[in-house]
Amino acid sequence: MESIELFAGAGGLGMGVSRAGFTPRAVIEWDRWCAAVVDHFSDAIVKNPIVGQTSENPRLREWHTKNLDRLPGLKFMRTLWVCDVSGGPFKFTATKPGTTPLGLEQAHRDLRISPAEFDEVAAELGRTLAFLKVPKPETDEVLAAFAAHKGEVTAGYVAKGG
Ligand code: HEM
Repeated sequence: MESIELFAGAGGLGMGVSRAGFTPRAVIEWDRWCAAVVDHFSDAIVKNPIVGQTSENPRLREWHTKNLDRLPGLKFMRTLWVCDVSGGPFKFTATKPGTTPLGLEQAHRDLRISPAEFDEVAAELGRTLAFLKVPKPETDEVLAAFAAHKGEVTAGYVAKGG
């Protein structure tokens, strides 16, 4: 008998079914895509005029200009976070813990990200997913998971005049 495995993770199930006599035809793990998406998306954010190096938000402008030595580490943390929300097996451990294990409010509070800036980052993520030809169901899932954390990410925003 033959098997096709989606979401293979570390591959334990594939090894098990092959020991049980199945011939794996395909073993697919989307974390590879997760890393590719985060990599492409994080670079696009640096260049994005609204939230990157020329942002009107001085904190985002400064981070994307002076802190780029931290970008590889940030990509790693973002990848772990996405892997964790999408069911593991990797676990995200925050350097600035929020109120929940995956909470993002403390990680972003000092950046004072506005709702409009958040939406621009979501749009950039959508463009990355389209560029990498991620199928529509996964695209919808990733964008919905991203949008679900808007309140946390923008918790440090202080409205102008407020
Ligand atoms: C749901 C949406 C988002 C997710 C899942 C996310 C994910 C993360 C993660 C996992 C970290 C690292 C936290 C840690 O070190 O413990 C982080 C930090 C950071 N995020 Fe986000 N983020 C989101 C939205 C945004 C937005 C809209 C921006 C605006 C450009 C942004 C910019 C940054 C920056 C600059 C850092 C580094 C902060 C530092 O150096 O302390 N993020 N993000």
